[in-house]
Amino acid sequence: MNQLQLFLPCAAGVEERLAEECLLITDQQPGTLKTTRGGVLVQASWRDVMLLNLHSRLAQRVLVQLSNVEYRSDQDIYENASEVAWEIWFTPKQSFKIEITAQHSPVKSLNYSALLVKDAICDRFRHKSGVRPNVETRWPDARVYVHLSATHQTLYMDTSGEALFKRGWRTDKGDAPLKETLAAAMIAASGWDGETPLYDPCCGSGTIAIEAAQIACNIAPGGQRQFGFEKLLPYQSHVWSAIKSEAKAAESKAVVPIFGSDVAHRMVDFAMRNAERAGVGDVVQLRGGDALQRLPPCDKPGILLLNPPYGERIEAAGFAGTASGARTRRGGRESAWLDPTADPVQQNDSAGDAASMDSFFRQLSTHWKTHYMGWTAWVLTPDLKLPGRMRFKESRRVPMWNGPIECRMFRFEISAMPDKNAKLPEV
Ligand SMILES: C[S@@+](CC[C@H](N)C(=O)[O-])C[C@H]1O[C@@H](n2cnc3c(N)ncnc32)[C@H](O)[C@@H]1O
Repeated sequence: MNQLQLFLPCAAGVEERLAEECLLITDQQPGTLKTTRGGVLVQASWRDVMLLNLHSRLAQRVLVQLSNVEYRSDQDIYENASEVAWEIWFTPKQSFKIEITAQHSPVKSLNYSALLVKDAICDRFRHKSGVRPNVETRWPDARVYVHLSATHQTLYMDTSGEALFKRGWRTDKGDAPLKETLAAAMIAASGWDGETPLYDPCCGSGTIAIEAAQIACNIAPGGQRQFGFEKLLPYQSHVWSAIKSEAKAAESKAVVPIFGSDVAHRMVDFAMRNAERAGVGDVVQLRGGDALQRLPPCDKPGILLLNPPYGERIEAAGFAGTASGARTRRGGRESAWLDPTADPVQQNDSAGDAASMDSFFRQLSTHWKTHYMGWTAWVLTPDLKLPGRMRFKESRRVPMWNGPIECRMFRFEISAMPDKNAKLPEV
């Protein structure tokens, strides 16, 4: 189990960062690793499998590649799957499930191909032990992944179980929650150093702020969940316990405050509960309030990191009166973060109304230019015209995919608005 070929899928656009993360977690040399579209291939040990599951913030799952061979027919698909030593990974008394994906594959039915692999696995177990394992689609003990390209069939044993973005702490979420893996990718892309204040003024269920707080405290993202490898045959509970204890012992205190706020008080409550569950209830400071009114939460300029509302999934909301009634973490009324001079913002009546979204973003940039001088904003959005809408020129744009939605992360350096009354320098 010391020379396994692993594949770690991730969101498109995140591959290079995942590769860097893998090197850090497994302490390997760059030559052992290769990035492909949508993931990273790495040669590693069984111990690395556990470390990657526990510590990766960017991978969707950790798969062990068991075979990668050409196929031309259904018969090939069956025979290739029959040749893999499944009995090393699970017993016929355990249940399993097949997940199949394809790209440019000539097969007519993916369901049928999955059935062929399932039959091959069951037949192999029956020949070897006289017993066939059962298929269980909801809570299988083992998950087999099959990928069919135009020419090759690749078979993987999954070691993660539930996808890794499910960290175990976000039981409360809103209408458009960001996957934890994508929030982590945003933080990585921003180059946040853990020492600069970080603020998400549209924090929803708190994903970005909570991920950042866990990073700041060196809390392993997978510390609160279980993994598929715990049910597989190579699993040794004492090794896993030691790895988890090491991770726990390495936790530290955050050196910088992390802030989040949202116009919807229900979301702020969700975020608070999520932060408590994630072990960072004391690190993240969460408040209610309109992003168009919130003043910087601290004196030192930091980074604003957010995926703001956008038409298709969630509309911008808020107006002056709501925010002034915002409740703090401690349940009291909060006014220190509010800009009392801000113009009331009109509430949107129609979801995704383009004109009101335009107006929201224009007011947001005016607010930032007035009050957030010296801050850097990183905004994830599917709206490629956002810089124009905000009258900002981005200093960086990073392509990123939110599931099937192509997005950009724009970086804006916030400087003050030009003073219209200022005299031009004499020449
Ligand atoms: C796309 S969601 C952000 C999701 C969040 N990252 C999460 O993981 O849950 C946008 C959020 O912006 C909030 N929002 C809308 N208008 C706002 C405003 N004017 N001020 C502050 N938050 C606002 C919504 O309530 C929503 O929670």
